[in-house]
Amino acid sequence: MARSQETEAHAPASPPQQQAPGTLGVGMVGYAFMGAAHSQGWRTAGHVFDLPLRPALAAICGRDRAAVDAAAARHGWAAAETDWRALIARDDVQLIDICTPGDSHAEIAIAALEAGKHVLCEKPLANTVAEAEAMVRAAEAAAARGGRAIVGFNYRKVPAIAYARRLIAEGRLGPLRHVRATYLQDWLVDPASPLTWRLKREHAGSGALGDLGAHIVDLAQYLSGELLTGVSAVSETFVRERPLLSGASAGLSGGAGTVERGEVTVDDAAIFTGRLASGALASFEATRMAAGRKNALRLEINGELGSLAFDLERLNELSFHDHTEPAATAGFRRILVTEPDHPYLEAWWPPGHGLGYEHTFVHQARDVVRTIADGAPAVPSFADGLQVQRVLAAVEESAAKNSVHTPVPSPS
Ligand SMILES: NC(=O)c1ccc[n+]([C@@H]2O[C@H](COP(=O)([O-])OP(=O)(O)OC[C@H]3O[C@@H](n4cnc5c(N)ncnc54)[C@H](O)[C@@H]3O)[C@@H](O)[C@H]2O)c1
Repeated sequence: MARSQETEAHAPASPPQQQAPGTLGVGMVGYAFMGAAHSQGWRTAGHVFDLPLRPALAAICGRDRAAVDAAAARHGWAAAETDWRALIARDDVQLIDICTPGDSHAEIAIAALEAGKHVLCEKPLANTVAEAEAMVRAAEAAAARGGRAIVGFNYRKVPAIAYARRLIAEGRLGPLRHVRATYLQDWLVDPASPLTWRLKREHAGSGALGDLGAHIVDLAQYLSGELLTGVSAVSETFVRERPLLSGASAGLSGGAGTVERGEVTVDDAAIFTGRLASGALASFEATRMAAGRKNALRLEINGELGSLAFDLERLNELSFHDHTEPAATAGFRRILVTEPDHPYLEAWWPPGHGLGYEHTFVHQARDVVRTIADGAPAVPSFADGLQVQRVLAAVEESAAKNSVHTPVPSPS
């Protein structure tokens, strides 16, 4: 395919080649936070796990030539593109990994799937339900041709969370009564924190709700094996104007009075309750305004036979209370989830040598490669991402209508 000067790939200078047999050529769009995390995952997965295909970091894409070249060198990508369409057109790319803000997810994912590429797309799947529905249609059409479309709900890949899912699926908690999920951060507490894309609805879709709430809604549904049927919500934007990015550094050195400001158009925090299909009650809190909480994703699930609790800031641990034990000795006990027969742990370090945040992306890469190689169903699928999107939309609708209970449409 002819390429313009502007979109021509840099190193290597040779034209893209078909990936060597036994490899999965990855093309990644976006190279900042998630780009770095996903790069780590793709680089490492084949060196830790026995994989049927070895991920090859074929090409990375950004919009700024110098910056994307630097990112390619730093993160180990063989080539760099400045237009995601050129990335999709490369013969050495079989999977497009989307690590950009939500406003570009649908366009890139649909184009990639239509071009015959597999897709891994960061969460939230899209900025609206309509976009997510279009992505599901593209994923279904692609699946019929062997394509796979997966959402990056990476917290499913924390061994303790995957193990919690296993215990619940085995019936160790019995019928569920409560799912309690909070995701607390504090990076917006300071009113001088700048107006990034995450604070503009047209780029991010929503605020703490889509950023953090998407994760805990997905985890509640994944762990329980049930869907939310309806929600009641409140949300708030506490700081309604923030320094524009260009003026932010001037503001830090030159005084707040002279800083140009722009409107925050998303929520700072969202709190909601809901009901799962079985009748279990669920509560959720997503905020970037919880001073002192850095990345506090906490879950507690209570069933008739027991309870589980998890805190991402202690991610190698799972608390389990078996309510069938004699009351005199029963109680929450700490399971150190580092045994070789715990999920994902078979290939890592000896027991007690814990894992961290970055390993979720290694596990994600492992699962994506195996799904594609085995022709297995995509998990978490774009349909899972759409269902989360429907919950987020219902939360926004409820919050706008004084917390009125708002049903979540079920999958058709
Ligand atoms: N799974 C998680 O734990 C997690 C954590 C953070 C962010 N995310 C999600 O990942 C996505 C990206 O977030 P981030 O924190 O990496 O953002 P970021 O701001 O750190 O990086 C975004 C990147 O996208 C690039 N970009 C934007 N528009 C582009 C376009 N049209 N073409 C090419 N490149 C483009 C930017 O240059 C930048 O490199 C979002 O959907 C976000 O919700 C997921």
